[in-house]
Amino acid sequence: EAPAASAPAETKEDKDLIYVGFVQVGAESDWRMANTKSMQETFTEENGFKFEMVDAQQKTDKQITAIRDFIQKDVDYIVLAPNTEAGWDTVLGEARDAGIPVIIVDRMIQTSDDSLFTAWVGSNFKQEGYDAVDALAEALKLKGIDPKAEEINIVTLQGTMGSSAQIGRTDGFAEKMKEYPNWKMLDRQSGDFTQEKGQEVMESFLKSYPDIDVVIAENDNMAFGAINAIKAAGKTCGPNGDITIVSFDAVKAAFEAMIAGDIDVDVECNPLHGPRVKEIIEKLEAGQTVDKIAYVKEDVFFAKDAANIIGSRQY
Ligand code: AHR
Repeated sequence: EAPAASAPAETKEDKDLIYVGFVQVGAESDWRMANTKSMQETFTEENGFKFEMVDAQQKTDKQITAIRDFIQKDVDYIVLAPNTEAGWDTVLGEARDAGIPVIIVDRMIQTSDDSLFTAWVGSNFKQEGYDAVDALAEALKLKGIDPKAEEINIVTLQGTMGSSAQIGRTDGFAEKMKEYPNWKMLDRQSGDFTQEKGQEVMESFLKSYPDIDVVIAENDNMAFGAINAIKAAGKTCGPNGDITIVSFDAVKAAFEAMIAGDIDVDVECNPLHGPRVKEIIEKLEAGQTVDKIAYVKEDVFFAKDAANIIGSRQY
């Protein structure tokens, strides 16, 4: 008699591994790729993990579906990098009801119920926005421009609207630039954190505004798009150019752009969250308490220092 068909037995290793489901934003930027790599390199079988990642292609609804799938699969932990801030209460309530701890990484969610997640680790995006104002003032001084005296016309390429990285950087910059009544924000539009859309928006800014002095790019990939658009329009940028560029992330390619003289200054955003999330999970496994909220320390880098620093950059 033929043996009855049965589901493949769970291997012993599988049972011993901690099952982590990672709901990633997408693959929109160099930063994001470095973040994915950090998670994949950390959550290996060798380190005791079974790791599955969903790339939600910058769609919040795809992230919600992915969380429900991970609940069905009964993972041990859900790690969520939320695309946008709003609308998480229902699905995170479902994860809580299923007894699955949720660790939020990178961007934050809006909720009045902090029992919906166990811990969060990421960047202080509003502080990054404040830092960008100081960085711009310094970059102008380095060009011999008094940041308090001359009229400075600014445009901003915003990130994904409604994401913490966009909200924090936009609001932080807007709040602190009030210290400079001579700075004028001509326009702000979203380039969705991608090079392609950053370039498109910059092309339209250049058509609408002949007198742009500064571009604030809310990430490096949009800055790369802006540089292409500026050069195609026959203008120059960077420390020796017509248009000053302030960017966020400080990925390696942005250091190269600073060395090439295209970006003036870059406000760091650190994507290497794999080891940080692993530490949180290991503490939880050991029954220890973890910080509910943990901010990563970040820096600001100027073009003049880029050549000396690029060798030590990890992403
Ligand atoms: O949330 C972090 C932001 O997301 C980074 O600045 C950007 O490059 C990424 O897409």
